[in-house]
Amino acid sequence: MEFDKIINSRRTARNFTGKKVSQNEIKKILISGSLAPSAKNRQPWKFYILNDGQKNHITNMLFEWDKLNRKERTSVKGTAEQIKLADKMIMIYSDTKKEHYKKPDYLSLGCAIENMSLQAIDLGLGSCILCDTLYIENEIDDYLGISGLEQICGFIIGEPIYNYPRKMKKDLKELLLN
Ligand SMILES: Cc1cc2nc3c(=O)[nH]c(=O)nc-3n(C[C@H](O)[C@H](O)[C@H](O)COP(=O)(O)O)c2cc1C
Repeated sequence: MEFDKIINSRRTARNFTGKKVSQNEIKKILISGSLAPSAKNRQPWKFYILNDGQKNHITNMLFEWDKLNRKERTSVKGTAEQIKLADKMIMIYSDTKKEHYKKPDYLSLGCAIENMSLQAIDLGLGSCILCDTLYIENEIDDYLGISGLEQICGFIIGEPIYNYPRKMKKDLKELLLN
């Protein structure tokens, strides 16, 4: 796909056909992430590819959390519904070593995650970055046996159905400070 087309057609995928995402497609997406720039070339990203059982378990944990915390009016329930529909989910972690590295490492992670999103588009797939998982980050990390890493987000992938409106984007004029 042409670069402009990839950039313009990228949008968050919230509904999916259920078609399987292959191991090869997952590998391509992760390699694209790993080629991103990073502060001091630290490449702070780590990926955990969930199997179906783990994905279902985390989905249920989010539904449970939502039930117990309805008053908080979060988007957790919607996020859990999206995870259920997506074929694959990856948890993304940072292995930041020093407090001072945190901010640049977050930026590096963002670069990697956007590479992953764009690679998914080029493969005819859709993805959604999920920070709602952070409401239960400790529970997820305990369940997966992850320690010593900082959870950044979840990332779901599948064949998208875009049956909802595109998000409006601000005009460049609004963004320019001078
Ligand atoms: C850091 C980050 C965290 C996000 N977390 C969630 C989430 O937890 N649940 C969700 O449904 N969407 C999540 N999104 C998707 C955003 O809602 C989406 O990118 C935004 O509404 C703009 O829509 P677009 O991606 O289609 O342009 C997240 C996006 C980013 C960049």
